[in-house]
Amino acid sequence: MRVAVLISGAGSNLQALLDAERVDPEFAAEIVGVISDNADAGGLEKARQAGIEARTVLWSDFDSRDEFTKAVCLAAHDLDVEALVLAGFMRVLGRHAVEQFPILNIHPALCPAFPGARAVEEALEYGVKTTGVTVHFVDEFIDHGPIIAQEPVSVEPDDTPDTLHERIRKVEHRLYPEVVKAFANGRLERTGRIVRWKRP
Ligand code: GRF
Repeated sequence: MRVAVLISGAGSNLQALLDAERVDPEFAAEIVGVISDNADAGGLEKARQAGIEARTVLWSDFDSRDEFTKAVCLAAHDLDVEALVLAGFMRVLGRHAVEQFPILNIHPALCPAFPGARAVEEALEYGVKTTGVTVHFVDEFIDHGPIIAQEPVSVEPDDTPDTLHERIRKVEHRLYPEVVKAFANGRLERTGRIVRWKRP
């Protein structure tokens, strides 16, 4: 399955997916392109190093979310992909995208807790003892679509946003490739909000 990975930043999850594709012969997703909304995203260099086409679609070049979304979809169609994998992509895509592609996202909290860009900080501020990672299908709301996989991460008393996010990322780097592999292998069955994993 040809997929594009969408990023905004460092791209450590992108790297985990690229590594999985490289070492696992059963990883059925082929990452054919990376789309970034940020020209300085570290992940763009990771894509280039992996020999993958990297494109930038800047939010500031468009007048509205719909126009931006259309440009992202155009880039994705141009890459001839079947699905989008969001890996630290910090823009909300409009309905247009959800109607055209299955889209996966990874969020650094246990949905429905702490949606949005400050999930790690908000978990600490709230005082939860356990937070975690969620991988979900994207719908038109933020960090809201059908949940595919979740894993808990303990919050330690002396955690800062950085130390907690670092432990969360370790889980993400294992979990996201597993989910993308299952998705590309056709093992995720979706009925409304409920996602079932079929046996391999
Ligand atoms: C990850 O923690 C992901 O859950 C969130 O943004 C972060 C991206 O990190 N959506 P990276 O760019 O993959 O290192």
